[in-house]
Amino acid sequence: GSGLNSLAKAAGKVYFGTATDNGELSDQPYTAILDNINEFGQITPANSMKWDATEPTRGTFTFSGGDQIANLAKTNGQLLRGHNCVWYNQLPSWVSNGQFTAADLTDVIQTHCGTLVGHYKGQVYSWDVINEPFNDDGTWRSDVFYNTLGTQYVPIALKAARAADPNAKLYINDYNIEQQGAKATAMLNLVKQLQADGVPIDGVGFQCHFIVGEVPGTFQQTLEQFTALGLEVAITELDIRMTLPATSASLAQQQKDYQTVVQACMNVKGCVGITLWDFTDKYSWVPSTFSGQGEACPWDQNLQKKPAYSGITAALA
Ligand code: G3I
Repeated sequence: GSGLNSLAKAAGKVYFGTATDNGELSDQPYTAILDNINEFGQITPANSMKWDATEPTRGTFTFSGGDQIANLAKTNGQLLRGHNCVWYNQLPSWVSNGQFTAADLTDVIQTHCGTLVGHYKGQVYSWDVINEPFNDDGTWRSDVFYNTLGTQYVPIALKAARAADPNAKLYINDYNIEQQGAKATAMLNLVKQLQADGVPIDGVGFQCHFIVGEVPGTFQQTLEQFTALGLEVAITELDIRMTLPATSASLAQQQKDYQTVVQACMNVKGCVGITLWDFTDKYSWVPSTFSGQGEACPWDQNLQKKPAYSGITAALA
């Protein structure tokens, strides 16, 4: 086949994939592309495995949305990335506003990660166990986890995930770590510390929410710093947004930018795969978050391939 996943696998990568969301699965022209293993060998649920969706009240777990995506992956023969166990955002208020002792929050994290990862045991290639722990200046994000437990929440979650599914790869996932700088250095130092302490950590996810014309020139170098530690790396949430309306020039630049990003992963042996943060502008998160920006995906609103698609295939071929 000549789709993205077929090309990626022929080039030695584990997968080329995409995020999707439960509300999109009734759109048949959309699922015709999503379900095509030649295009996508891996899927990630954009929302339905997050804490607010899976443990809305303490000790009560709801897996219906996550199961729908996991079952789809199984039906399609696709790998599944689990997203995510511990994140400051999309937390139910019983967690974000909770007044916890350190011991109590440790129990909350162990129960959440252990139950979530355990529910999908054997079905998940890799889990984003920790999502977005750092501020852009490399300091730790001030959230209920850090404010209650300090940095210890990271090993607590990773160990619980490892115990729940010993075969899933355990990742820390973040954005703005693609370029050299304080945030990438903080992530590198965290991983080194975890390794020194014997804490399970297998990979680092680079989200890659980029802007057309602003793909960082040091991305490949940064990936290599992490693989040099014996970790795998992955591009976990790729999209490249632009100021609207799009022009032929901005779409051509976007094509180049997609090629540059995918080529960086191709050039790094330990970069196992690439995931789009949904493949079509029809369902991109970008316009609702960045006013006046959009068209970040390789397929347009009408599910037609854009020049960006050719940028990806040029790098994969
Ligand atoms: O489920 C409610 C629905 O009941 C309600 O009617 C509707 C009204 O706004 O909101 C729905 O929740 C939305 C949810 O997506 C599900 O569609 C939230 O408002 C919306 O904020 C949420 O956005 C998600 C965002 O994470 C939240 O931070 C995006 O879909 C999702 O793509 C995005 O994904 C994140 C990754 O997890 C981490 N990295 C960044 C990435 C992009 O922000």
